[in-house]
Amino acid sequence: MISSLLKCISCGKEFPLTEVRFTCTCGNLLDVEHDLSALKKKFRLSKKYFDSKNTTLHGQPSGGVWHFHEIVLPSAKENEIVSKQEGNTRLYQNRKISSWLGLKRFYLKHEGENPTGSFKDRGMTVATTQAKRLRQKAVVCASTGNTSASLAAYASEADITGLVLIPKGNVAVGKISQALAYGTKTLVVNGDFDDCMRLIFEAQEKLQAYPLNSINPFRLEGQKTIIWETLQQLDWKVPDWFVFPGGNLGNTSAFGKALHEAHQLGFIEKMPRFAVIQAEGASPFYQAFKNGFKELKAQKAETIATAIKIGNPANYTKAIRSLRWTNGIVESVTDEEILDAKSVVDAAGIGAEPASCATVAGLKKLLSAGTIKPKETVVGILTGNILKDPQIIVDYHIGKKGNRSNPPVEIAPSINEVAKFL
Ligand code: F0G
Repeated sequence: MISSLLKCISCGKEFPLTEVRFTCTCGNLLDVEHDLSALKKKFRLSKKYFDSKNTTLHGQPSGGVWHFHEIVLPSAKENEIVSKQEGNTRLYQNRKISSWLGLKRFYLKHEGENPTGSFKDRGMTVATTQAKRLRQKAVVCASTGNTSASLAAYASEADITGLVLIPKGNVAVGKISQALAYGTKTLVVNGDFDDCMRLIFEAQEKLQAYPLNSINPFRLEGQKTIIWETLQQLDWKVPDWFVFPGGNLGNTSAFGKALHEAHQLGFIEKMPRFAVIQAEGASPFYQAFKNGFKELKAQKAETIATAIKIGNPANYTKAIRSLRWTNGIVESVTDEEILDAKSVVDAAGIGAEPASCATVAGLKKLLSAGTIKPKETVVGILTGNILKDPQIIVDYHIGKKGNRSNPPVEIAPSINEVAKFL
């Protein structure tokens, strides 16, 4: 059998895949490392292989994450896989958004179209599968909302006890509703996300609870498929840029690994560039980028985009590696810029939650600065569904807090009143 293992991204120390471990003895993060050349030989892996492969899972046709089974978690047997058919998300080309940006070749990959409404499901299917394989009794996470919604749904599916820790007053109503409804115990912590994250590290050490945050390297293996699926949708033509939001920097880490591996496997010949977008009030990665990654200064985070309200990103070192692989950059945007971009994405009939729209706001800023050129091909990632955060939409449109608000009008029950608006 071809082996995969856990490998420290800093000192290179290796551990078996069956060990329950999230950091190296030296304290750094771990990768799941596959023997790519052995896998390539065994399955004759190529672009064509994945293009012509028909994947079925549990008796149903399945694309998405497990279409890339061989390079996600090759040792997982079908009966071990906990899946809700995640992935297979649309790649939109939208005239209204493109013309607002001034871009010709622009695609939006909508990860809000996953089973629980965010990209987290792509990671959760793999990490929950691994939790099951390791016979873990309880899974836990710290969350700004989406991870908790996803964990709750997958813990239910896998019949494992779930526990989520969320920061008080800082999780959008759609997300907390999901965690409660899917039946996971939800602990509201009197602190911020970074406090919750610290508790998760302790819970793993002291209570042997299995974390499903993005420090779990199996999560990132699933999230890699966002990139591979996009490349496949683009007929493996590499765009000039991938633009996406950064919070705990799991996606930044996973996307870099996906491209690095695609390059090593010979699926792509050039690397695209990354532009990671942070909210101004929660921008430790942006600040570190500006100082040449000399140091990460943790922040007290503040932004309306609660999904990315994170001041001390856990995947910092992996994310730097991704930026080096992709000649990547980091930008920051104000809450107002996020809300304006969101109103454009929403009014295009696509819609996404605020953190996702940091992608479009950042892209607008980078185009204005001339960093990204109008003739370049750009893929933006929308990370979460519009219905995750309905309160922000109500405030923007009904509370008229936005530059493009579209408030409802109350009328008498008369056709003449209706006619005034046509
Ligand atoms: N967009 C959305 C909608 C998110 O929920 C998150 C993270 C991000 C972007 C940032 O992604 O952490 O990979 O850089 N949400 C986590 C959560 C932290 O708990 O749901 P990242």
